[in-house]
Amino acid sequence: MRYNWINAEEVSFNSFLLLDRWIIAMICRDYREWAEFEKNLGAALANNPAVAWYFAHRSPESKPYVEQIIASAAKGLSADEVRQAEIFVLHAMETSVVYAFPEVMNRNCNYIYDWDKQHLLHLADFTDALVLDVGSGTGRLAFAAAEQARQVYASEPTDRLREYMRDKIRRENIRNVKVLDGTADSLPYEDNTFDIVMSGHVVGDNYDLELAELTRVVKNGGVIIDCIGDDDLKRKPDGELLGRGFEAFYHVSKSGGDIYTYRKKITK
Ligand SMILES: C[S@@+](CC[C@H](N)C(=O)[O-])C[C@H]1O[C@@H](n2cnc3c(N)ncnc32)[C@H](O)[C@@H]1O
Repeated sequence: MRYNWINAEEVSFNSFLLLDRWIIAMICRDYREWAEFEKNLGAALANNPAVAWYFAHRSPESKPYVEQIIASAAKGLSADEVRQAEIFVLHAMETSVVYAFPEVMNRNCNYIYDWDKQHLLHLADFTDALVLDVGSGTGRLAFAAAEQARQVYASEPTDRLREYMRDKIRRENIRNVKVLDGTADSLPYEDNTFDIVMSGHVVGDNYDLELAELTRVVKNGGVIIDCIGDDDLKRKPDGELLGRGFEAFYHVSKSGGDIYTYRKKITK
């Protein structure tokens, strides 16, 4: 599926130099069955030695694979053929490449720019609450919650996005948002810390592990929220969340998407 969040024709292959180890590892691990992607990635890396070096050193677990696909890459490609291979890879990885360009993310991702913060603020009482946002991205949920909460922790595993949020906090003198690293399956917080733990477009790779971790850090009587943005996708309610005791709330986005948000009160 192509979202067109980036225009790959205008994006340098060096953009991968801005991405984190977990993204490089994912690119080198999760698409090995996709022969066309592997062929283009090999050709692009063979002709971009600095990016190939970065892949192998930033993600040492990917080094054997990087060396293998470079060794198998077509030889003697023209500059135009190399650029076509780069564009193929950039397009294929656009949902990760866009993390290198947070302003582009805010401008081009409809789930961010079409969203109304009331869809979050109606889900719980944020007044004076201690809140965790897991996988904050550019801070769609975190900055909305901060308008009412006492303190928001924005947890985000992508360095460029952490820096984007820190720059915004400095620029706008926001005093109650702190930005930290962390993934949904391994959050750097003590048990029973937060009144509200929220996320959007993050939970789903491993529901059991991720929800166990979100539940661990929420206080007894606290709330877990899953609040996606207003995209244009037609979808059904998430049976995995409903089956784990979440309530669902439905609305139609401006662009006709079926948007479900979820809430679960946690009793320990
Ligand atoms: C599609 S974006 C959504 C950003 C934000 N939550 C929003 O809805 O506007 C997904 C975000 O989750 C982060 N992410 C990816 N894997 C993650 C994980 N395992 N745990 C926490 N965050 C993750 C990405 O770096 C990215 O910022």
